[in-house]
Amino acid sequence: MNDRLRPLVAGNWKMNGIEASLSEIERLKILLADAGALSADVLVCPPATLLSRAADVCMGSPIELGGQDCHAKVSGAHTGDISAQMVADAGGSFVIVGHSERRADHGEGDAVVKAKAEAALAAGLTPIVCVGETAEQRAGGQANQVVGGQVRNSLPTYKAGQKVVVAYEPVWAIGTGNTATAADIADMHAAIRAILNEMLGAGGEKALVLYGGSVKPSNAREILATPNVNGALVGGASLLADDFFSIIIAA
Ligand code: PGA
Repeated sequence: MNDRLRPLVAGNWKMNGIEASLSEIERLKILLADAGALSADVLVCPPATLLSRAADVCMGSPIELGGQDCHAKVSGAHTGDISAQMVADAGGSFVIVGHSERRADHGEGDAVVKAKAEAALAAGLTPIVCVGETAEQRAGGQANQVVGGQVRNSLPTYKAGQKVVVAYEPVWAIGTGNTATAADIADMHAAIRAILNEMLGAGGEKALVLYGGSVKPSNAREILATPNVNGALVGGASLLADDFFSIIIAA
């Protein structure tokens, strides 16, 4: 862990969660209150339908909320989409953009992801820009080139003082139970950090680089202790408060 940066442990609920699931956020709130001072910031990104109800539950707790995606435009004729301003209005302070499931399921390329990240910043949200290579790309020795290209082309045009988070999520590690080795994570995070320093100037050192892909209570401590890993983006293991809490306190 880069000790100059306070880590962020973020939960991505994906397309999971109905009203009853808010009990997990209520339980997380209690676990965090009992834990006292935390050494990480905590974020939950529920489906958009739960965002404002989750905001009511999170009142008075350290849990921040975020969206899982936003449109690049502020408003307009885009049936089914939600804007960054809507995420902020519903109680979000972060939004995930460019998740590999959006890139794959909705054909979102780097230019679209960049526009979404810029919309997020304009709405006062912190974008979490996701990048990651496929198994074929890693096998073909292209992981660094692919991820480097995604970082360079998906990050928003940056103004000093803005907050940007990058999440490195190897596609083959998402939801599979397979994680990258600590050495591979360290290598990729160092490469991403170098690009951030180049692109963001002084802001590069402040940008968090999260790891995501099958982070769970049993591997969180090792992953979060890896150099240049400033937190985690957690899918499956964020759905149950007790598992997610175990990851938060491992940071
Ligand atoms: P996972 O998902 O933790 O279930 O692998 C991570 C993600 O896609 O953000």
